[in-house]
Amino acid sequence: MVGWPLIPANVKDDMTGCGEKFLPYGRQYLDEDDIEAVTNVLRGDWLTTGPMVQKFEHKLQDVVKSDYVVSCSSGTAALHMAYMALGVGAGDYVIVPSISFVATANGAAYCGADILFTDVDPASGLMRAKDVLDLIKDLSQDILDKVKVITAVNLTGEIAEIVEIHDIAKRYGWKMIIDSCHALGTSFHDKNGILRNVGDCHFADMEVFSFHPVKTIAMGEGGAVTTNDKALYDKLCLLRNHGIEREADRFILNCDVAKPQPWYYEMQILGYNYRQSDIHCALGVSQLEKLPKFIAKRQKLVTQYNSLLTGLSAHITPPKSGTECSAVRHLYAVLIDFKKLGIDRVDFVSKLSAKNVGTQVHYIPIYAHPFYEVKYGSIKRAGAEKYYAETLSLPLHVSMTEDDVVYVVDQISKIVKDRGEGDG
Ligand SMILES: Cc1ncc(COP(=O)(O)O)c(C=O)c1O
Repeated sequence: MVGWPLIPANVKDDMTGCGEKFLPYGRQYLDEDDIEAVTNVLRGDWLTTGPMVQKFEHKLQDVVKSDYVVSCSSGTAALHMAYMALGVGAGDYVIVPSISFVATANGAAYCGADILFTDVDPASGLMRAKDVLDLIKDLSQDILDKVKVITAVNLTGEIAEIVEIHDIAKRYGWKMIIDSCHALGTSFHDKNGILRNVGDCHFADMEVFSFHPVKTIAMGEGGAVTTNDKALYDKLCLLRNHGIEREADRFILNCDVAKPQPWYYEMQILGYNYRQSDIHCALGVSQLEKLPKFIAKRQKLVTQYNSLLTGLSAHITPPKSGTECSAVRHLYAVLIDFKKLGIDRVDFVSKLSAKNVGTQVHYIPIYAHPFYEVKYGSIKRAGAEKYYAETLSLPLHVSMTEDDVVYVVDQISKIVKDRGEGDG
């Protein structure tokens, strides 16, 4: 997640001179309102947990329409807390898709659980119900009995088959988390035609978000868990703050309400410092105010990419989109059959980089990382391997102009033509 070139944060919507500046695959969009929101906090009384934290949580709740929101220090912290809140521990198994950022699996591994990796749709990288059923077929009854949680990932901002996967989870008595770190703002119609927001937790116990600068809104570092379950909400609040309870009516030991000790608090469970600060939340509130604008801009750029790339359809496949889903893409990940194109992906990426176009690969299958390979041996899932071999994320962020998209597609066309393949 690190390593893209740093570019001044004040790049404006009307950025000109395509190709002159490096265009990263993703970056934040900040304006003077954001800067003012943060400096106002710096001038005030609260730096860490203060009024901005609650304001951010209420605002996010309003966007996703969940009953509860718990903000925290990162998407990774959100995942860790979500697994802990469900009581995941040693001896449990957690199912995740093979294609995601490592944090999706790591959050469960921190808890001591073992990870089971499903295959994914080679055309989208998304976990399908079929992939879960295929995994189940290969599991011994002993392991199947120990599965506690399944985590679906709304990769790139698209929706995984969460309705069907939720049905499977219910059938097997598993809890369900949705990693929506890429999908803030995405909505979709469920089987009954009802419009659902990502984060509303209609098909999950909890959903998690990241507000890392390349995501749809930026808080520097930041994350959140959404839920409709009050008990989970209470647990998440404890986990976020060292497991410390400050409300007298919830104390376990010091229950003398007649003579309360004003200094008293209780550490009731082993928690962490995963709190979010007022500085970050002020930025989060200001960014959420711009979310409708961000959504419109991202969707406009995606439509433009899709249309321009039709001229290269023999070689480049734009991201697959479900008709029932109004995706707000965090990533614009195309598929390229590099073998058929006759150019190695490293060379392709280098040629684009030489023209100031940044790209990234999302993601190496999680099971292929040394940590998991040493733990579980060599795993290969056909759909994940194909997706990984072909995926490439092109620049997509709110600071981009339509000229930037034209520039990126032009550079890709040139590389394709230089291979003598034409653009048909
Ligand atoms: C799918 C997914 N899950 C979780 C995370 C972790 O989020 P953070 O970087 O805020 O810890 C990321 C971050 O890239 C992600 O892409």
